[in-house]
Amino acid sequence: MISEKLKKAREYEEKYAGYIPEEERPAYHLSPMIGWMNDPNGFSYYQGKYHLFYQYNPYDIKWGPMHWGHAVSEDLLHWEYLPCALAPDTQYDGAGCFSGSALELEDGRQLLMYTGVREEVKENGVRDTLQTQCMAVGDGLNYEKYEGNPVLTEENLPQGGSRYDFRDPKIWREKDGSFAAIVANRSDDESGSLLLYRSEDGFQWKLASMVDRCYNEFGKMWECPDMFELDGKTLILTSPQDMCRSGLEFHNGNNTMYLMGTFDPKSGEFVRESLGSIDYGIDFYATQTMLAPDGRRIMVAWMQNWDACVTPVNNPRWFGQITVPRELRVKDGRLIQNPVREIEKLRGRRVHHNIVLCNETTLQGVYGRVMDMTVTITPVKGDVYERFRLKLAQGSRHYTVITYKPLTSVLKLDRSNSGSCRDVVHERSLVVRRQEGKIRLRVLMDRYSIEVFVNDGEQAVSATIYTPQTANGVSFEIVGQAMLEVDKYDLCV
Ligand code: FRU
Repeated sequence: MISEKLKKAREYEEKYAGYIPEEERPAYHLSPMIGWMNDPNGFSYYQGKYHLFYQYNPYDIKWGPMHWGHAVSEDLLHWEYLPCALAPDTQYDGAGCFSGSALELEDGRQLLMYTGVREEVKENGVRDTLQTQCMAVGDGLNYEKYEGNPVLTEENLPQGGSRYDFRDPKIWREKDGSFAAIVANRSDDESGSLLLYRSEDGFQWKLASMVDRCYNEFGKMWECPDMFELDGKTLILTSPQDMCRSGLEFHNGNNTMYLMGTFDPKSGEFVRESLGSIDYGIDFYATQTMLAPDGRRIMVAWMQNWDACVTPVNNPRWFGQITVPRELRVKDGRLIQNPVREIEKLRGRRVHHNIVLCNETTLQGVYGRVMDMTVTITPVKGDVYERFRLKLAQGSRHYTVITYKPLTSVLKLDRSNSGSCRDVVHERSLVVRRQEGKIRLRVLMDRYSIEVFVNDGEQAVSATIYTPQTANGVSFEIVGQAMLEVDKYDLCV
């Protein structure tokens, strides 16, 4: 049975299908079919295809009544839109179907777990949104909300847990076939906590433990949690809100953070060993991972920053993009991320250069807006240069610039001249592992974004840009001299 609200959303989609010309969207990053997108949801592999749902308001390019948009792909890069999957159409989710996740049931159905939001007037007369966890079951196209919804309510919260901040369930199967989910909550100290729930059948859930909490140390509320084993470690990913800057590791506002450690399933206790930022760029939030059939742990995120959500003037029909899917690994206590290997299949014309760089130069064949380019800088005979600059998406008035100073080992991304006419954050710096001036930058560009993978994925830096597509120049500049190697591929989608 399709509700009126879902029907309306699907009819709206049909009406606007194809309305946005392909070349006005990212080429290989998922953007909403129409309207607004935020968090990736339900990232999973189901019946031969990758499924990626997303927080979605089809009717506007602003956040609004949250639906779940839906797309599928065979290679994580070419996405095909499916009809809107969930609409806020019940008493328990009428104010929004917030973020959640998906997996396949034994009987072949697809199970979605999401946050149902409904408005409530509090005792003091203030309106707030009550959040509960809900299930829906479907065939990869149509989903029926579970008659027992909501499955997790304030009754399943630990003492002091807030019923107004209880969201973003990430579900998985344990080796014994049982189900587990990690859910974000706010504790009585006003900051985040992460709750682990367990279920035998995927529908009846019980609180197992609080796996970690913020204690007001890393921002406030922790959103969009995820938890998985990787290379012998337990990883928890979360997106803290309201952070204060901490050196160059965390910036003001919404961040993403990984916690690495060990987890004891018996006691439900997680012991942190290290933590850090997941992405050091401007636009990156609300990560979600999935385990691919070949064993890879693959992560996506919303390639946007809540505080920088200003409507670009040149693009009035869609807003929001998902990052390139990234393969995760753990190395020396750090989270390593690289674009999925499928991207190599998109590689077209290759251009390769190896030169001594001693001023500013462009290189034959090195330009474009949809490309995969690796730039390696190596000092000549230990003679460390002062500063290296890579300018991208360059036109007569525009460019995005990445600067590296080996003396401080600080890398900076600056998109101040990248087409935005808003006074929001346009620069971000990070400390890179010191390697006597050597640095490798893999730059993935799409029409409206730049993602940089530093030193084989030790750090990532993501940002959206709004530069006209004609601004497709690339140049290299150095103060001092160094060897410059450039390996550039056009990406053919
Ligand atoms: C994160 C978030 C989630 C919530 C969703 C609502 O960006 O705030 O916590 O489920 O967005 O759209």
